[in-house]
Amino acid sequence: MRRKYAVGNWKMNTTRREAHDLARAVADHVRTDRIQVVLCPPFPYLGVVQDAIKGSSVVLGAQNCYCETKGAFTGEVSPTMLVDLGCRYVILGHSERRRLKDFAEQSELINRKVMRALEAGLTVIVCAGETGEERAAGRAQDVVSEQLRDSLMGFPLDRLPQLTVAYEPVWAIGTGVTATPQQAQEMHLFTRSRAATLWGEKAQKLSLLYGGSVTKDNAVSLLAQQDVDGVLVGGASLKVDQFTAIIDATIATA
Ligand code: PGA
Repeated sequence: MRRKYAVGNWKMNTTRREAHDLARAVADHVRTDRIQVVLCPPFPYLGVVQDAIKGSSVVLGAQNCYCETKGAFTGEVSPTMLVDLGCRYVILGHSERRRLKDFAEQSELINRKVMRALEAGLTVIVCAGETGEERAAGRAQDVVSEQLRDSLMGFPLDRLPQLTVAYEPVWAIGTGVTATPQQAQEMHLFTRSRAATLWGEKAQKLSLLYGGSVTKDNAVSLLAQQDVDGVLVGGASLKVDQFTAIIDATIATA
């Protein structure tokens, strides 16, 4: 059995107060540890959210980190700092980090971040996904497998329990257009088969999340797919009623 996930990626949203209230509402809702619920607030609110979820089965994640432990890297945050604040997860290689010109993160950098985050003891949620043009050109699988291959280069087999992969088609993120359950399943199955060529049987244990305009209305049909082990939720994770319904859908399919 693979671990099922509902991950909230808050991106650059909420005030301190909103972060606290949202986290508290989610924590109050989750009364089971059958699935893993992860909240990823902006860096400044990690502590606030950690306080709000204390004693619940909800855990803390970050949206990014740097690939060094400490030193002269103005403005950066290290994986060990995240652990120090109570983080268990970190999202790496999100398409907004890869594609926005101001960040332009390459898989090579993401790979270094992955390795350092692992060393710090974090579980990494590594994202990959194709653009609409790439899909139209029939290149979706190539793009995703290339991003994952390069971002996960040298990933140690014995650390596989610290890896979660999120398929997030760029054309579905924040657009209201969700991949169909069939499109998600097809890419997840492909990703798992690629993982199996690297890691053999252990790839069966790898949790694969889908992200991109997940809502309470489409979560059930996505999560019903054989190889969809959870959801990475942006916009809908900022609304208590939406996100708690998505959590319930995840529990129902666990
Ligand atoms: P969305 O974002 O749910 O708002 O589409 C998902 C993500 O970017 O992780």
